[in-house]
Amino acid sequence: MAVTIITGAGSGIGAATARELARRGDSVVCADVRLDTAETTAGELPEALAMEVDVTSAASCSRMVEETLRRFGDVNSIVTCAGVEKHGPGHEFAEEDFDWIIAVNLKGSWLSARSAVRAMIDAGHGGTVVMIGSINSVVGNPGASAYCASKGGVLMLGRTLALDWAQFGVRVNIVGPGVVDTPMSAKSLADPQRRARMMERTPLGRPAPPGEIASVIAFLTSDASSFMTGAYVPVDGGSLAAW
Ligand SMILES: NC(=O)c1ccc[n+]([C@@H]2O[C@H](COP(=O)([O-])OP(=O)(O)OC[C@H]3O[C@@H](n4cnc5c(N)ncnc54)[C@H](O)[C@@H]3O)[C@@H](O)[C@H]2O)c1
Repeated sequence: MAVTIITGAGSGIGAATARELARRGDSVVCADVRLDTAETTAGELPEALAMEVDVTSAASCSRMVEETLRRFGDVNSIVTCAGVEKHGPGHEFAEEDFDWIIAVNLKGSWLSARSAVRAMIDAGHGGTVVMIGSINSVVGNPGASAYCASKGGVLMLGRTLALDWAQFGVRVNIVGPGVVDTPMSAKSLADPQRRARMMERTPLGRPAPPGEIASVIAFLTSDASSFMTGAYVPVDGGSLAAW
């Protein structure tokens, strides 16, 4: 049975991914900086472990993988969904907020993937990494310079790690969601003007429920995508086509 670690599993896309992968039979590690929400996700699933993990800490990411190995004996995939967002014009944005967004979204994707892939290499088998970028990996958004920079970074991080890790049979792909209905986007979607602006750029005319991102992540963590690595996969209701 495959063992998959999901960071940010307490909410939104991470929680939906945990449910989707558990449905197909994976043993799932629900990692989140909030233990309470990780436990809520894991509590619904048959073979799941909840863990408090801060992806900005190398030690916390190492512990995440050690505990996974202790409980399930192996790790086959990691999905890095932990992410944060804060808006503000670039000339007013606080340095600590910039550092925080880069630390969680960009460095955290690397630290958590690195820990899991070290275990795959030690075990002598391949595996898969799925990083969550955004349409903002490739297009800008006013008032979101740190977020867009972090997501552009995730795209190049994932592509480059795909090159580093291909020799070990580890595939790395980057998913680029458009507008997804999660707690992260709730405030924007609740504002009629912002919602209308977001939907103008979404040909399908609606936000995705997080399950529509999770199903693509399931594909990328399965053998059905065995010749895909270093790919950027937009799941955006047509947004990039319309940009
Ligand atoms: N919602 C969207 O419209 C959208 C669009 C494109 C990309 N994304 C990306 O998808 C990913 C998931 O976002 P979401 O919409 O599900 O958001 P969300 O806020 O619902 O979930 C994010 C989760 O990450 C966790 N987290 C935050 N900091 C952490 C840390 N330091 N260590 C571990 N966990 C931490 C949070 O506790 C939360 O459970 C993010 O990377 C986000 O940028 C979301």
